[in-house]
Amino acid sequence: MPSRDSDALVFFGATGDLAYRQIFPALYAMVRRGHLDVPVIGVAGRPWTSDQLRERARQSIQEHGGVDQETFARLAAKLTYVGGDYHKPETYERVRQALGTAARPLHYLAIPPSLFAVAVEGLAKAGLARDARVVIEKPFGRDLPSARELNAVVTSTFPESAIFRIDHYLGKEPVQNLLFFRFANAFLEPVWNRNYVESVEITMAEDFGVEDRGKFYEEAGAIRDVVQSHLLQIAAMLAMEPPAGERGPESIRDAKAQALKAMKPIDPAAAVRGQYRGYRDTAGVARDSQVETFAAVRLELETWRWAGVPFYIRAGKYLPARLTEVVARFKRPPEDVFGSDGSGKPNVFRYRLAPRVEAALGARVKIPGEAMVGRDVELEFCRTPCDEMAPYERLLGDAMHGDATLFTREDEVEAEWRVVDPVLAAPPPVHSYEPRTWGPPEADRLVAGDDGWQNAT
Ligand code: BG6
Repeated sequence: MPSRDSDALVFFGATGDLAYRQIFPALYAMVRRGHLDVPVIGVAGRPWTSDQLRERARQSIQEHGGVDQETFARLAAKLTYVGGDYHKPETYERVRQALGTAARPLHYLAIPPSLFAVAVEGLAKAGLARDARVVIEKPFGRDLPSARELNAVVTSTFPESAIFRIDHYLGKEPVQNLLFFRFANAFLEPVWNRNYVESVEITMAEDFGVEDRGKFYEEAGAIRDVVQSHLLQIAAMLAMEPPAGERGPESIRDAKAQALKAMKPIDPAAAVRGQYRGYRDTAGVARDSQVETFAAVRLELETWRWAGVPFYIRAGKYLPARLTEVVARFKRPPEDVFGSDGSGKPNVFRYRLAPRVEAALGARVKIPGEAMVGRDVELEFCRTPCDEMAPYERLLGDAMHGDATLFTREDEVEAEWRVVDPVLAAPPPVHSYEPRTWGPPEADRLVAGDDGWQNAT
C-alpha cells in the first residue's frame, strides 16, 4: 500500500446519481481549494465522450452552488471518461491507458452494491490494484453473510489499510464535533452513564420522500439505508469509551468498534417499521411493497457504562422536519423537593447534528414570584453553522492521503450488520403513516414508559 498520496482518482459510476449529487461538487470544491491536482477518470457503462462527462459535471456543479469558470476549467482539464462494461477486461485496460504514468490510483466505486465485487476483481486482474486504494460506497453488503463475502473479495485484493468503506455521515463536521465535544470536555463524563442517563434517543428525520430513488430504496429500506450505517455510527460515538493508548486513527476506530460490538442484536419485537402513504406510487416501487421508509428500534448495549439504558433510534422519510438529533434523558431528582411544580420534564442533553450544530440542556427553573413554581427551559450553549466542507470533499481528500480515520473498518461493518440482521431476517409488519407525521403510532409503544419521543418543534 502506498504511504504517499494517490496520484490519480478513478471513479466508477460517473454517469450516475451519486456522481451528479455529490462527487462532481466535491471534486470542484477540492480544485477550488487547491486540493486536487491529479488526473480524474470517470468510468461508466454509457458510450460517452470526455466532453459529455465535462458537460454533466458542469450541470451538476451549476445546480449545487454555481460555476466559477476559471475553477471549472481547471477541473475540466483533469477529467477524462472511459466507457465500458464493468464485467469486461477491456474496460479496465482502457482505464489503464487513461491513467498514463499514474501509478498509485484511488479507485472510487460509486456503483450499485451488486457490482462491487465485479469491479474489484476486474481491477485485480488488470493489475490496477497494485499500489492503489479503493473507496467503496455503502451499503457494504445486504446482511452479515454478504458483507463478509464482500470483505473476503476486497481484502483478497487490497490490504485493509488501502480499503476505505464510506459512510458519509462520518465526514460531517457536526458528527466529528460530537466526538470532540464528548472527549474534549470533562463535565459530561461523570454523568454520561447508566447511573444518570435514563435513555438516549437518536432521530434522523427527512421531510421529503424517496423522490427518484425508488428502485434503490426498494432494495434497501430505511434499516439498510441509514440505521445500519449512519445511525449505529452515531450511537457508537455516544456510547464509546475514550480512545485508549497511543493516539491515532486506529485508537478511535478501536474504541468505536468496541462499542458496536457491545450492541445486542435487535429483537424484531423491539422494532417498528412504517411506510408513508404514497410511497407505492413512486417510480420503481412495487404496488404491494413492504419496504420500510420509517424504522424505530430499541437498542441495548452490554457494557458497564450502558447496561439497562435503552438507545432508541428512529429514521424516516417524509416526516415533519429535516434534522438529525440526539437527546439523552437524565433520571429525575431522587425526591420532589418542590412538589408537583418541581418536576416538569426530565433534564435532557440535546445535540442537533443537522441542519446545524446545536447543543442544549433542558432544565427546570423557578418562575419569578412568591411561589416555588417552575417551568422548563432550554439552556442553549452552542449554535454553529455547519462547515462549508461537504462530507464527500473531506472524505475523498482523506482517502487520497491514505487517512482512514473517518471510514468504517471491516469489524465495524460486520458488527453493524450483526445488530440489524435479526430485524432484516424476520421483519415486523410495515404500518402506513401519513406524510409529514412522526411515523406510525405503533412507534410510540417502543418508548412507552420513557416519556415518549422528543419530537422537535
Ligand atoms: C444517504 C441515504 O446515505 O443519506 C439517503 O442513502 C439519505 O436516503 C442521506 O437521504 C442523508 O444524508 P444527508 O447528508 O443528506 O443528511
